[in-house]
Order: sequence, then C-alpha cells, then structure tokens
Amino acid sequence: MDFHVLTLFPEMIRSGCGDSILKRATEGGLIKVNAVNIRDFTLDKHGKVDDYTYGGGAGMLMQAQPVYDAWKSVTQGKKVRTVYVTPQGNTFTQKIAKSLAKEKELVILCGHYEGIDERVLDEIVTDRISIGDYVLTGGELPALVMIDAMARLVPGVLGSEESAQTESFENDLLEYPQYSRPEVWNGKAVPAVLLSGDHEKIKSWRIKQAKERTKKWRPDLFEKYEEREQTVKRLMKHKKENAYMIDSLMRGKAKLLYAKEGAAVAVSENGHTYMICCDDKEQGLELMAYLPKDVKLLLHNCEQINDALFERFGLKVSDECYQSVYTQHVLLPIKHKDIRNFPLSEIDYAVANYGGESHREYLMELIQKGDFFAAYEDERLAGFCGVHGGGSLGLLYVDPAYRRTSIGSSLASYLVNVSLERGGLPYAHIRVGNEASLKMQEKMGLYVGKKKVYWTYK
Ligand code: ADE
Repeated sequence: MDFHVLTLFPEMIRSGCGDSILKRATEGGLIKVNAVNIRDFTLDKHGKVDDYTYGGGAGMLMQAQPVYDAWKSVTQGKKVRTVYVTPQGNTFTQKIAKSLAKEKELVILCGHYEGIDERVLDEIVTDRISIGDYVLTGGELPALVMIDAMARLVPGVLGSEESAQTESFENDLLEYPQYSRPEVWNGKAVPAVLLSGDHEKIKSWRIKQAKERTKKWRPDLFEKYEEREQTVKRLMKHKKENAYMIDSLMRGKAKLLYAKEGAAVAVSENGHTYMICCDDKEQGLELMAYLPKDVKLLLHNCEQINDALFERFGLKVSDECYQSVYTQHVLLPIKHKDIRNFPLSEIDYAVANYGGESHREYLMELIQKGDFFAAYEDERLAGFCGVHGGGSLGLLYVDPAYRRTSIGSSLASYLVNVSLERGGLPYAHIRVGNEASLKMQEKMGLYVGKKKVYWTYK
C-alpha cells in the first residue's frame, strides 16, 4: 500500500515511520510512505504557503495553489482517495481503517495554521477524518496514527495474520488479558487455565474475559455485541435457512439494521451486500423498509418477496441456490494433508480454471486476504477452493488428473474447518441444477436447507 502524505513537515512523517514495524514494512516493500513537502510547490518567491483569511478572523490559512500542485504531483490528476485530516471529520475507527486499507494508494493531506482554503478541499478531498474530539497543532500526528492503523492490516506487515484478526474491536469485543513469563510475578500468578494445555477451555475463558472487560470498560460496545448475540440466537432456530446471516454476524462481518423475532436485516461491513432473513412474506415486506432506496445487491431467503423487490428496487433474481450448512462444532478429518494458502505466483492456473479473465481481480483479492487455498500432490498443484467475499464456501476445483481421489472432499472439509476456526457457521450456496455438488455436500455431512436463497441484483 502506498501512502502519499502532503505536509509542511515531511520530516515528522519520515521519522514517525522510521522505526519498528513501519520501518520493517517499508524495507520489505509492503508499504511505501512518500512525504511530500507542500512548500516545494509554492509559486511565491519567498516560499510562502499561507495568507490571511477573507472576511477576517484570527490566524493564517494554507493557500489553494501549493496544496493543489503538491496533490497533482503525486496523483497526476488521477482519482486517488484523498483524506484530509481535520478535527471536523468523521471519527477514525477500526472499520474506517479497514476500508481505507483496501486502497492501493492513499493521499493524506495535513493542514496547519487555521486550516486550508475550502476551494482546494472541494477539488481533491474524498474523505475528512478526525482522530478524536480534540485539536492538535497540525495533521501530521493524525496522519501517522492512521498510517499505523492501516499498515498493520496490510497482509505480511504483522508477523502472523492471526494477530490482526483476534484483537480489540473485532466482533465488538475488547481483547482478553494476556500473560507472559514468569508464572508468578509480584505475588500474582498467571490464571491456571492458561497453563492447562486445554485449548477449548482456554478459548472459552478468553471469550468470557473479553465479554467482562467490554461490559465494564466499553458498555456502548457491549450493548451492540449483546444485540447481535441475541439476534444470532433467534436466527439459529432455523440454522439451515439463515446460515448466511448467522455466519456474517458471528464473525462480525455484518452490521444489523433491524431485528425482530426470527427475522433480520443486515448489511456487510463494506456496505455492498444487504441481507434479509425472514419466515414469511408479511415479515419480508416489513423488513424491506430498512433497505436503502439504491440497494444494488441483496441476499434473502423468501421467494414470495421477489416480485416486490423487483417493483420497489428493480432487483432481479440472478441466482437461485440451495444452502448447505455444517451444523456440528467438531473439525472434520482431512485425508489429503498438503493444503496451503494459494500462492499468488499460480494465479493464472486459478483464472484459467475458475471463470476466466473476468475473475482475475476477485481471485487476486481472495489470495491476498488469505481466503483461497491450494491442494498439492508431489509438489504439483492439484486443485483449489476458497471462501467467497460474503463468507460462503466454494470455488472448488480439482485438476482432471486428480479427480476420483480424496482431494475434492479434502478441500471441501478444509474449508469447513477454516470457517469453524474463524468462529463462523460453515455454509455453501449451490446453484439449483448442480446436483453433483449437492450430493457431495450431503456426503460430507452438510445439511441442505428446505428453503432456497436468492441473490438479487439491480
Ligand atoms: N488536526 C488537528 N486536530 C486534529 C484531529 N483531532 N484529528 C485530525 N486532524 C487534526
């Protein structure tokens, strides 16, 4: 990920990124931090970049021209997401960090003095972000805070992928307490359960601790967490019908918009996919009121609302699928041992065998997220599988040379285990008509729900 920071104090940015993890990430080519001095772009012969404010008022304002030219020098006029750090912006959160970290390139504009001429902001800024309700002397510290939060989400920047996934704010819970050697310090012993070697017990102890401290220190977050848990519990009564929403909520990948009894409306964390779960048409029509007018993609499980969705939102059914669900909690045995993260260097093989060129970008995204897996036999690529953006398991392919071996079912079982280990409910969507896939799901012990699910697009 490339950061371009437009600033009057580039040294502050360089020194802030010149140590520890950010330094290592820069040296490893995982991030680039380009600090651009706005003063280098002024046309004023004395190097001035600020002037008085029209209409009067205290202090000086940064002028439009040097800021615009500095921005143009890094973007060449292209549409690059450009964040202005200002106390007047939206408050920076882990969610915003995640959304921005998806960009390949990001411009961060730091203000000084009393701010920046509004005309250039109108021209170049896409997001205004504050790091909290207090006023700092400039935007450099907020820019560094944001770069730090985003850089650690870039795959490879942190030692293990897991450490970016299981900490504070994932799932609306704060992180559980952790301990290192010695076993007893200052008369205080490490909780015995952590020395027991019983991973299940440790896991439940950690969840309990995370809940307790969230309740105590962040009751606002805890309320959100509890509402979601209650909804999941109710949706669980019809697991096989509601799996897609249960899984997204359990993994903290969707936000609830409304829930009532066994029905709910939610939206994926990136804001693209809306979901409805309901038992009948009446409920479905009621829930539709919680969809935005411009909804473009909706997944639901109620055939009787398809006509209304078309009339009100122009949504057409593009895929009608069965939904299969793994309802147990135990990991599946996997016969074929050599399954690993799919290497980016083999992407052409995946593109050729999964949808062709139009799928290249999608597959690349899955590989980079660690959601695409390869099976090897004697160091030869023998097949692949993955977790779709929304969470359903699939993308299964076995090389013709390895069909009728255990590789197909091993890949499918591997996906089930990945989903369980991530705290989800493993499920797959199988297009109506794909009988072979349905049979395989049932053979593996997944249950197919009575109701179909509908992917509807504008
Ligand atoms: N510039 C000055 N104060 C700021 C803040 N709190 N957040 C972002 N930018 C700022």
